[in-house]
Amino acid sequence: MKGTAVARANIAFIKYWGNLNDDLRLPMNGSISMTLDRLRTVTTVEFSPALTKDEIEVDGVEPSPGAKGRIVAHLDRLRSLVGESLKARVVSVNDFPTGVGLASSASGFAALTLAAAAALEMGLEDRELSTLARLGSGSATRSIWGGYVEWVAGAKHEDSFASQIAPPEHWEICDCIALVSTDTKEVASSEGHRLAKSSPLYLARLSQVKEDLDRVREAILTRDFESLGSVAEREALSLHAIMMTSQPSLLYWTPATVRVMKEVRNWREEGHYVYFTIDAGPNVHLLTLPSCVEEIERALGKVEGVRQVIVCRPGQGARLIEEHLF
Ligand code: DP6
Repeated sequence: MKGTAVARANIAFIKYWGNLNDDLRLPMNGSISMTLDRLRTVTTVEFSPALTKDEIEVDGVEPSPGAKGRIVAHLDRLRSLVGESLKARVVSVNDFPTGVGLASSASGFAALTLAAAAALEMGLEDRELSTLARLGSGSATRSIWGGYVEWVAGAKHEDSFASQIAPPEHWEICDCIALVSTDTKEVASSEGHRLAKSSPLYLARLSQVKEDLDRVREAILTRDFESLGSVAEREALSLHAIMMTSQPSLLYWTPATVRVMKEVRNWREEGHYVYFTIDAGPNVHLLTLPSCVEEIERALGKVEGVRQVIVCRPGQGARLIEEHLF
């Protein structure tokens, strides 16, 4: 009763922000992302009669009570589906810093869902895995799939899952992540989702998202980089406008975040294919094409406050692997 899975983070071009139902993580709007080839989580889950409680280890340590509770709640959901009562040992390793807005919950809950479902021999299709991963973390619903992925909001549990728009080989978009902070974020996304409706701008955002989803899906299918980039950049600014005008207000940016955003616009004026997007954190994701990636990476490394640049390309969806972590 043991399973090990690898899953990767994703970067959303159209972001998930705000829930219709917080408990079920039913989002207010659909979202579209690209699964990344780097930023991986590997997770082994074993259900065993030798355990008297769930034992969880993430990156070599026991997680905080809140993070642990969220993992145990997810194990409980899967156990209850198959009527299993055995406790589990979970060991998980990330190859990137967690809690800094690099979407560790997406890769983490996608890997946990697949590994636990395999250990419980649930025999689920990717669509069902995506639906279940959503209950652990919204963005994890997309990380089950590789390449370009759309999560359709849905109005009830069974209808809210992601599917693939195009495989990784369809189009090589590069995501140069400018890491400007490795501090744990002050307000977790789950709390941000709850605050979204308190922003007076939230309804305006929702009415724009529907049109943006159509434009981004079409831009992916036709490989139209300028259309994708321009919608993604405005969409990220719309997300941060909601965050800033929520009550209480969330301001994730640092001076280095803004410096990078300004540079992106300068580089674009100079003729480079580059746009930015930003999740719930200060780090900036620069979307570019293979012809510009080396120059962008070099230039980005010189911007004051950029500590590290991680270059990602489209990656595979969650997969089971043979090598267990214990
Ligand atoms: C800004 O999936 O991290 O990255 O469901 O509470 O785990 P929880 O939230 P989470 O929210 C992601 C927010 C975002 C946008 C996105 O990835 O779509």
